[in-house]
Amino acid sequence: MDRLTLRRPDDWHLHLRDGAMLAAVLPDTAAVMGRGIAMPNLVPPVRTTAEAAAYRERILAARPAGSDFTPLMTAYLTDDTDPDDLAAGFETGVLTAVKLYPAGATTNSASGVTDIDALTPVLERMSELGMPLLVHGEVTDAHVDIFDREAVFIEQILAPLVVRHPRLKVVLEHVTTAEAVAFVREHAPQVAATVTPQHLLANRNDLLVGGVKPHYYCLPVLKRARHQQALVDAVCSGHPAFFLGTDSAPHAVGRKESACGCAGCYTAPVALQLYAEVFDANDALDKLEGFASLNGPAFYGLPPNNDHVTLVRRPGSRVPDRLDVDGLTDGVQPFLAGRPLAWQIAENAPHASEMS
Ligand code: NCD
Ligand code: ZN
Repeated sequence: MDRLTLRRPDDWHLHLRDGAMLAAVLPDTAAVMGRGIAMPNLVPPVRTTAEAAAYRERILAARPAGSDFTPLMTAYLTDDTDPDDLAAGFETGVLTAVKLYPAGATTNSASGVTDIDALTPVLERMSELGMPLLVHGEVTDAHVDIFDREAVFIEQILAPLVVRHPRLKVVLEHVTTAEAVAFVREHAPQVAATVTPQHLLANRNDLLVGGVKPHYYCLPVLKRARHQQALVDAVCSGHPAFFLGTDSAPHAVGRKESACGCAGCYTAPVALQLYAEVFDANDALDKLEGFASLNGPAFYGLPPNNDHVTLVRRPGSRVPDRLDVDGLTDGVQPFLAGRPLAWQIAENAPHASEMS
């Protein structure tokens, strides 16, 4: 198969940032994705319905001319989250989901939750509403090894949480381990997972062998090859609980190539092409549309997009070297910058309605 047309995909985990960075990165996502779950870890975070509505306006204002990309908004869960505010945001369509960051787990998560048990009233309300909880699944205890933080989170926090709140829809974001895959398989359809291109294409050797490669550094950190293989097997199996979430997370080059480099891979310009490589390499191109375009909407209770994108297996294109950002001298370096791509996005097929 050298040509593949699929329903337009959505990105169920995306960092769009704000200001000049938002203006620079949004076109890369809007060129391919119909919708994107906008992560709320700005500084300060997006915590309330009002803050999410304002951020949504800034994203809409930054869309390239003619784009109908739809941002889906999330609120950042804190120890002080008001269940009434979340309910109002969900019922008026401003909020799609709520994001749980354990305090200190990742970039801009200092305001995160310190005691999940104290949030029972909020989680009960979300269960009643059918409002999904999106989880950064890593413990932050200093004594837990960074490579074990996801598995320990699942065992100590997530497993009891889904038992305590059996009607709460949960997305375990950017899964990285065989333990996460097993947990999601066991708890679907209550629990689903997003999977990033970098966790499918790389493992910790790519990050560390031959010198530290800061552009491979993200959280949760890349794991061993056997965990990478478990993720590939999960998505290529076509299991409906796994769907596309790039976790595209731009940082200025100087902040990644640093003595204390930021976590996050900027994958937006090439994410769909990279996912296609993974499915292709595993003879599973027939499962790509489910992963990219159908499983996510089904979990969120939304219709799939009406229009289509076409991928073509064609050599000659490469991952861009840089993205210019106003006011940043060195811009943003995409994940796998300069590497040849096996697949290209051909053209946008007409809307389904226009074809009939
Ligand atoms: C994300 C970011 O930079 O905002 N970084 C990352 O490594 N994934 C935050 C996150 O999703 O953990
Ligand atoms: Zn993220």
